Amino acid sequence: MVQTALLPAAPKSQDLYAKVSHRIPAIEWPVFSGDIEAIQRLKRERNAVILAHNYQTPEIYYCVADIVGDSLALAREAVDVDADVIVLAGVHFMAETAKLLNPQKKVLIPDLAAGCSLAESITPENVRELRRRYPGVPIVTYVNTSAAVKAESDICCTSGNARKIIESLGVPRVIMIPDEYLAKNIAAETGVEIITWKGHCEVHELFGTEEVAQLREDYPGVVILAHPECSPEVVQAADFSGSTAAIANYVAKERPERVALLTECSMSDNISVQYPELEFIRPCNLCPHMKRISLANIRSALEKMEHEVEIDPVTAVRARRAVERMLAVS
Ligand code: 13P
Ligand code: SF4
Repeated sequence: MVQTALLPAAPKSQDLYAKVSHRIPAIEWPVFSGDIEAIQRLKRERNAVILAHNYQTPEIYYCVADIVGDSLALAREAVDVDADVIVLAGVHFMAETAKLLNPQKKVLIPDLAAGCSLAESITPENVRELRRRYPGVPIVTYVNTSAAVKAESDICCTSGNARKIIESLGVPRVIMIPDEYLAKNIAAETGVEIITWKGHCEVHELFGTEEVAQLREDYPGVVILAHPECSPEVVQAADFSGSTAAIANYVAKERPERVALLTECSMSDNISVQYPELEFIRPCNLCPHMKRISLANIRSALEKMEHEVEIDPVTAVRARRAVERMLAVS
């Protein structure tokens, strides 16, 4: 689900507060409002837009972001951004993807250390070694990787389109890196043989089947939605599995009275703002990388025009090809 924040030219502090009053007590609002007003002003002065991932906190998601969504939506929307500057409120691979699709624009990330355990699990040399070991087998790379790893790949995928991408190849065997669990979950859905890598998301690997069983016992009738970076056992024990956008869409369509999202904590915070009548059980885990982004460092990024994301041009050409192939299929 992509939502373009409907912010007026000069949004009033009280209008913005109304969007997040469900999550932020009134007494705490002054802590946020100064940075929010400054960011709104700086966006106009710099002709900048803020792309924010669904795991950003409500004050970022609802009060300063122009476009919010899952990794696929952020990549798609980045193609059409009409601005001089993109600030990526998310992790480094997302900012790199935005830069690949906007080589002429300035792409800023508020904290360069906002990484990802999946992106860190694999190097370009690892991918070249896989290609040597399995000649002729296509390499599908999850977007949660560096541009240098994407450059060694045939096509990218996200959790939102992985099945479609794998099926589009029309072959019995593919290499899908680096998320072992996502690959196994997609193999179970498609019947395609998938050679994978031992990368894991440090947030989603923490969920276990005992937790799912405990949730069902403690909260009768709870509907459990799991991100496909969870283990296959957890995905099987859940009621539904999908990308962060698919999870948001499920809640919008099915309106489960009592629901638990097995994913990063801000997902429930952000979705629950729209559905105050639903009961969100919150068995979540925090992503320390996503949580490096704050109003304060978004403001600082726009004030100082830092930290600019740069990709070596030779790598960028090859990595862009893999991302554009993905966008063409999905
Ligand atoms: P989505 O593409 O589903 O938003 O997932 C991104 C991510 O990093 C999940 O951990
Ligand atoms: Fe990476 Fe997991 Fe954080 Fe997503 S939640 S950015 S996959 S570490």
